[in-house]
Formats: sequence, C-alpha cells, structure tokens
Amino acid sequence: MKVEIITLFPEFFNGVFNHSILKRAIDSGALEYIIHDLRDYTTDKHHQADDFRFGGGAGMLLKPEPLFAVLSEIVDNVKPRPLVIYPTPQGIPFSQDIADDLSKQVHVIFICGHYKGIDQRVVDRWVDREYSIGDYVLTGGEIAVTAMVDAAIRMKPGVLGDIDSARSDSFRNNFLDCPHFTRPEELDGLKVPGVLLSGHHLNIETWRRITSEYLTKRRRKDILTDSNTIQG
Ligand code: ADE
Repeated sequence: MKVEIITLFPEFFNGVFNHSILKRAIDSGALEYIIHDLRDYTTDKHHQADDFRFGGGAGMLLKPEPLFAVLSEIVDNVKPRPLVIYPTPQGIPFSQDIADDLSKQVHVIFICGHYKGIDQRVVDRWVDREYSIGDYVLTGGEIAVTAMVDAAIRMKPGVLGDIDSARSDSFRNNFLDCPHFTRPEELDGLKVPGVLLSGHHLNIETWRRITSEYLTKRRRKDILTDSNTIQG
C-alpha cells in the first residue's frame, strides 16, 4: 500500500513511521510512504499557506492554490487514480470496516488540514472521501491520518504476525474486546479469573463472549445489535 501525505508539518511523521508496527510494515514492504511539504508548493516569498475566510470570522484556511498544485502533480496522470482522503471533523465516522477497506487500497493520498480546514474547492475538485476520527476537533489532520494509516496497515496480512489477534479485536462482530491477563497468576492480591487457567477451551470462549457482551452493553449500547446478543 502506497500512502502519500500532504502536510505543513512533515517532521511530524518522522517519529510516527519509525516505530513499532508501522516501521515493520515499511521494512517488510507492506507500506510505502511519501510526505509532501505543502510549503514547497507556495509561490510567494513568505511561503504563506493559509489565508482569511471570505465572509469573516476567526480562523484561517489553507489556501487552495498550493493544494491544487501538489494534487495535480501526484493525482493527475497516475493510473490507477489514487484515492484522495481528507480527514475532517465534518467527515463520516471512521470505523473498523473503513479501516479494513482502506487496507485493501493500493494507493491513498491524505490531505492534512489545519486551522479552519481547507478551501471547499479543493474538496470539490479532488477529494473522494472525508472521514472523522471522533467528535472532537484536533489542531490538524496529522494525528487523524496517523490513526487511519495505523488502523488500516495492521489489517494487512503479515503485518501483525498473528492475524487471529486482529480478528478478535474490539468492533469485530460489533462487540468490544474482553479483558486479557498474562503472568503472574496473582499480583498484589489480584488474581487472574480461574476459568482462564482451567485449560477448558469452551468455558474460556464462553467467559470471553459474556464479558465482551457485558462491557459492550455497559459502554457501547450503540454498537450492539440483536444479531450479536448472546441468547440465554
Ligand atoms: N481534523 C481535526 N479534527 C479532526 C477529527 N476529529 N477527525 C479527523 N480529522 C480532523
């Protein structure tokens, strides 16, 4: 999967792509990334990338011309056409299903907005999808892009090592994941639930499903549907 990111803060991604699973994905060839510094596409001597909003009000916008310049360079004439994503609080909610879909894309371009966002004409001309990572406003799109790339890349075969682990994550079958324990069996008087030490696979599976459903009911009734409710 090839990812290109257009940003005013290219250094932000140095750390992100140099650690843990994302680094492993790059080293294995599952992920290739290119960072485009939006300021390189400005034409004035101050390299100004933002401007005031027509109609007034506080908060600046990213100017459209540098974005048009970089996007025409990296989208036009590229075959097959890359998918262009703009992370924004006004987007549809990003989800595990969308992450799965993203992991199957060959070439994705992300535009990182800042301040009040980007000129709408950039969206109208170039953007295929707008996603939000939650009902809060971040200072820019870099953190949202990182979340989306991370969620997508871990779904690619070979990246996690143990794909079964991803299959039992939260949001699979619309349940939150159950609690997990490792050694020691007792710590500071706190014991691992006995059933997990029993070696009885059916009982362990039942305990995990019941605790998943309990957590989901208490915390996320919105994702629970009739079809995934344990009967009896
Ligand atoms: N940019 C700023 N806030 C955002 C959010 N919640 N989701 C995606 N992109 C954003």
